[in-house]
This record gives sequence, C-alpha cells and structure tokens, in this order.
Amino acid sequence: MADPSGPPTDQLAATSLNDASSSHVLKAEFSDRFTIRSIISRPDGGSGLAGQKVRVGGWVKTGRKADKDAFAFLELNDGSCPGNLQVIVEASLGDLGQLVPTGTCIVVDGELKLPPAGAKQKVELRAEKVLHVGPVDPAKYPLPKMRLTLEFLRDYVHLRPRTNTISAIARIRNALAYATHTFFQKHGFLYVHTPIITTSDCEGAGEMFQVTTLFSEAEKLEKELLENPPPSEADIEAARALVKEKGDVVSQLKSSKASKQEISASVDELKKAKESLSKLEERSKLRPGIPQKDGKTDYTRDFFARQAFLTVSGQLQVESFACSLSSVYTFGPTFRAEHSHTTRHLAEFWMVEPEFAFADLEDNMNCAEAYVKFMCQWLLDNCIDDMEFMADKFDKGCIDRLKMVASTPFVRLSYTEAVEILEDAVKNGKKFDNEVKWGIDLASEHERYLTEVKVQKPVIVYNYPKEIKAFYMRLNDDSKTVAAMDVLVPKVGELVGGSQREERYDVIQKRIKEMGLPLEPYEWYLDLRRYGTVKHSGFGLGFERMILFATGLDNIRDVIPFPRYPGRADL
Ligand code: 4AD
Ligand code: MG
Repeated sequence: MADPSGPPTDQLAATSLNDASSSHVLKAEFSDRFTIRSIISRPDGGSGLAGQKVRVGGWVKTGRKADKDAFAFLELNDGSCPGNLQVIVEASLGDLGQLVPTGTCIVVDGELKLPPAGAKQKVELRAEKVLHVGPVDPAKYPLPKMRLTLEFLRDYVHLRPRTNTISAIARIRNALAYATHTFFQKHGFLYVHTPIITTSDCEGAGEMFQVTTLFSEAEKLEKELLENPPPSEADIEAARALVKEKGDVVSQLKSSKASKQEISASVDELKKAKESLSKLEERSKLRPGIPQKDGKTDYTRDFFARQAFLTVSGQLQVESFACSLSSVYTFGPTFRAEHSHTTRHLAEFWMVEPEFAFADLEDNMNCAEAYVKFMCQWLLDNCIDDMEFMADKFDKGCIDRLKMVASTPFVRLSYTEAVEILEDAVKNGKKFDNEVKWGIDLASEHERYLTEVKVQKPVIVYNYPKEIKAFYMRLNDDSKTVAAMDVLVPKVGELVGGSQREERYDVIQKRIKEMGLPLEPYEWYLDLRRYGTVKHSGFGLGFERMILFATGLDNIRDVIPFPRYPGRADL
C-alpha cells in the first residue's frame, strides 16, 4: 500500500524507507535537510546509516547538558514521525544553554553514529555544525516539558501541534484523509466540491449559521453618518431652491434668445444643481440599522440578495452530480449552530459524503461498512507507530479495535429490533436517562449500549420512524419508516448517517410539506425528481468522529486542528 505521509517521488520509489539494506538516507524534497523519519523509521532503526553525513532540523523535545557542560544531548523531533533523533552537540559548537530548552528549533549538520551498546536508540547524530537556533525563553514558553492535559492545550491551539499527542493526531488525520480519497477513487467515485455557502437547509433542522454582510454594512453606515451627518430638511430645501433658480435662468436665456454658449453653460449649471439635490435626497433616505421591509429584515439588500447560510451538509448539492455522474463524493467542512457542549459535537466539522445512483439502502450499508473497514486497515498498514503511541498513552485497546473492525462483519439491526433489544435491557434492570419506546430518536446512551454492550462491534441500525428523520429519506412500503441507516461504533455512538433517497416526485413533495418546510427553496432539488429521476443513496461520515473512534481519545475538540464550539473560535 502507498505511504500516506511522504510524497511518492522518484527518490522515494528508488530507495524505499523500509529498505534496511539501503545505506542512503533521503533528503526531504524542497528542503536542504533530511527528515528524521527517513533516518529512524527504517526497520533497522537507522543503524545501517552509521557513518552518513546529514543535515537535520527540528524542535527540541528534551535537552540536557552532560559531562560538566561539555556536551548537550537533545531529543529532536521534526513531525515526520513520532520518534525523536538524539543529537549530541559539543560545547565548542555553540551556547549549549540556548539549545537545551524544550521548544528550541535547531538545524545541524553532523554524522550519524552507532550509540554506545545498551542505548535505547539505534542511531544518533554527532553534530559538527549548528546552522540555526530558534531560541525559547523557558520562563515564558507556555508548553513546558511536563505532561500537559489536552484540556490545557486547547488554550494554545497554535502551539499544541508541538506536542506528541497533537502531532500524532495530525498524522492520523492526514492518513485517514488520504485513505478516504484512495477508497473512493479506487471504487470509481468522483470528488465533487459542494458549496460552503448555501441557501438550502439540508437537514431541515434550523441549525444553520447565517452568512450576511447586513451587520457590518449597518455598522459602517452608522459610523459614516456620525462623521458626515445626513442633510437636514433645510439643506434639501436650499438645494431645491437652487435647482429652481438655475432652471429660471435657463428659461430666461432661452426666451431672450441668448447665445448658444450662454444657454449651454447655464444648462450645465442646472444639471449640477440637480445632481447635488438628488445626492442629498439619496443621503437623507439613509437610515442607521438593519434594512427593513414590511416589518422584517430586507434580505434583498444583503450580499446575496437573499438569506444565505453555511452548509450543514453537501448532500443536496452532491445529489445533483450523482444524478448525472452516478458515483460521487464530497469531503469538506460543515457547520452546525447547535448549542451542544458534548464531547462528540463541534460547530465546524468535516464530513465525507458519498452519493451514488442505481443503489439502494443495502448497497449504501455495504459501501459504508467497506469504507470504515478500509480506513481501519489503512491505519494498521500505514500509521502503526502513531497508533502504538495512542495505545500506550490513551487507549490500550485501540489497535485491537481497528483489527476487529477491519475484519468482522458489522451487525445489522432494524430500528424495531434495536428498540426491542433496548426494551429487554430495561426489563432486565438497565437504567437509561431517556425513555425507550418505538418512535424515539435513539439517544447516545442507547446507541452506545447497542454497540458497546450488546454486540461489542459496529452496528448498522436501519429503517427508522419517518418522524425522526429528514425529509429526503425514502419512505418504506409500511408508510411508517424510512430507508435510513446509522452506523454506530463503540466509544463514539453514531459515526455515519445515511439513507436511500426519496426519488418519487409526489412522495417527496408531500414529505417536505408534512415536515412544515417551504417548497420554494427545494424546487431545484425537486427538479432532480421531475427530470430523469433515479434510485440513489448516500451517507455522511463524521470525519472527527472517525478519528475519535480510531484513536480512543475522549474529546472531539482534540482531533480537529482548530476546534469551534459554543463560545470558542480561537485564531
Ligand atoms: O447524520 P447527519 O446529520 O447526516 C447528514 O448530514 C446527511 N446529510 C449525510 C448524508 O447522507 N450525506 O451527519 C452525518 C454524520 C453523523 O453521523 C456524525 O458522525 C457527524 O456527521 N456529525 C457531527 N460530527 C461532529 N459534530 C457535529 N455537530 C456533528 N453532527 C453530525
Ligand atoms: Mg444523524
């Protein structure tokens, strides 16, 4: 399988990183140094490279002076892999005190050497020249060497990628994105970019962030009117009088048969007076505040001349491409103004949304299952060092969980069966905070009971009551349920939500009305059913939830580089 973190260059092809017999290290392309990964992530740990001269750069994880300050030992990390390269610097090469603080950036030239027998590393670098020092004042650096909580690190989102955990997550996230594109490309799905700004509410749940310039425009105008007040009634009257006066002059000159030149000069003056009157009249109409019409906000004066929002899902737009290009997917940021303070909700998160024509609910479940399995196997094949770090520091079972998910079929339960299981559990003494009965929207505690306690593997629940699902899901023949499916996984609960789409024009039109949604904004969507309609299906996978599931971390705010949630949008 391809290497997810390095570019597939000719250089890489020529000398595989995993080729321990090779005595060459690889210079990072577009840079004059060697990555630490290319040195220490070989099966021999880099010992086969002893004797090579290399240049490396990175940030000091830990540094200490030794042998009465004759040397400094620096653990150097450049983010190319979780491991560090030990660099030994002699006092003659620079101010060792400046090199040892955690967070210092250095670039050094040196020779790779075998460490003394018994050392934990397989190779170390003897510095010969220090080319760059980006110093750190340890008294001020916010991320000291001691172990910091993930919660503490959320206050330093700009510096937290320097930590082992956040950089491991960044590499895992990158690998999962690569896996996503690989999976869908391999299966003939076309990547489509759906809009971030939209005028359609996909989920119909009213959780959209509005995109508007009305407020900034109103503030600008308010400021401008303060600096340059609007004309008074007297100013306008005076301008009107001037227009009249100039008009009279023109008439007089015409009736006295004055020269052409004189007349045209006076006409020019009249024009000027009229222009300045109309400008004053225009300005006198300016009102501070949000433009109103019939007692409501006048969105025709907004940037898009209508109300617009940040998308909650690219599904509706990507459906238009599925209904012509057959198999497509979108992968981008989505936004929800939910006031949820849970460990599984963000206001801005990334969603992977495949959508494919000529496919029913079962095809959809098969695709979701294959995709989740593919990602698990990908991490085992390509990111095992970072996964080992996660297993060591956060969740002992995370690697076994990936193996289990990659190799075991997901359990499939209808919603009705799932509710029966939950009802049985209640009968046997299990206590849930939320009542269990047919028709409820499964709460997170129910989802986690099914996947973590009852079957202990991923579960796909399908055929939900229509009342609790979105308007676009296909109505089943029982007229009570829709062809929806959710993939539930241990640790996270809902990872994927999807459905077969309602392709029948009459039915979907009725469903939109039934749900109390206006038809007008969905007319374009109905066109997909009016013209050349087709059976089609799709789902959305919450990308951060997939990372939570893979790594075993507890809080979704730690698996996205810059988390956004109620009250917080740093940087
Ligand atoms: O179940 P959802 O709301 O489905 C849709 O948006 C569909 N339009 C997708 C489709 O069929 N194309 O969201 C899909 C997934 C959820 O299963 C969950 O994993 C994730 O998106 N998700 C969130 N992740 C983080 N923060 C939030 N606030 C999330 N809301 C949903
Ligand atoms: Mg859902």
